[in-house]
Amino acid sequence: MAAIIMIDLKNVTKEFSDTLALNHINLHFDNKGVFTIIGPSGAGKTTLLKILALLLKPTKGKIFVNNVNVDNNMRHSLRRKFTMVFQNALFFNSNVHDNISYGLKIRNLPSDEVEKRIRDVLKRFGLIELEKKLMSELSVGQMQRVSLARAFVLEPDILFLDEPTANLDPENNSIMEKEILSFSKTKPVVMSTHNIMQIYRIADRVAFLSDGSLIDIGEKGILEDPQDECIKRFVAGETGYLNNNC
Ligand SMILES: Nc1ncnc2c1ncn2[C@@H]1O[C@H](COP(=O)(O)OP(=O)(O)OP(=O)(O)O)[C@@H](O)[C@H]1O
Ligand SMILES: [Mg+2]
Repeated sequence: MAAIIMIDLKNVTKEFSDTLALNHINLHFDNKGVFTIIGPSGAGKTTLLKILALLLKPTKGKIFVNNVNVDNNMRHSLRRKFTMVFQNALFFNSNVHDNISYGLKIRNLPSDEVEKRIRDVLKRFGLIELEKKLMSELSVGQMQRVSLARAFVLEPDILFLDEPTANLDPENNSIMEKEILSFSKTKPVVMSTHNIMQIYRIADRVAFLSDGSLIDIGEKGILEDPQDECIKRFVAGETGYLNNNC
């Protein structure tokens, strides 16, 4: 299948036992650029990213990739082209180099190609000096850089990032944003964030989720003069930020 250019969700609902995590979501995005998902904690951002990354199946509704309804076969073949970076990434109990190279090795790439790509991401993410360090010896910011480097090294067709810069200092944050922007010049990035300033810096479009529903979607201008009370409070960082009672 050609590179991913378009994903559509049609009436997607996701239920977990007694929780309605996503409620009839309709969403379209295509091409390159940074598409951000924001909303209060528990709104359904991670669930939506996992559905888009084909890691979770909707309870109801359909997903189309390049206008083709995703079935099990297609899900399987697309999984290698879709890469998601999780909010709380898990690593092997080994060093930085091994953690970054693992995904390439299981793809059976030639070893010189593997090393070339690893050298490149180590440099871009400022990890050269940490290459032989054990993951357990790294700071949170360093681990987050490894987590992103490990995704970028796979050169996926689309990247899904779940709050990739949460808890980062400005320097690490700017390394990440630069790389996200650079990737997004040719391929799509879909990411959740709680950082409004980050949206202004790097997002092309933004979707606001609350309590499993898509409240608004559009250019980042929707955050400038929000009509919706929930978005207004979120942007202002008021009390509604930490719950779903918008
Ligand atoms: N595996 C699961 N089993 C049961 N409930 C779940 C599961 N995953 C998510 N949920 C519920 O679905 C809702 C949405 O969760 P989700 O993790 O998508 O929110 P979020 O917007 O990513 O929140 P945060 O900003 O805190 O990361 C929550 O009520 C959560 O408790
Ligand atoms: Mg989440």
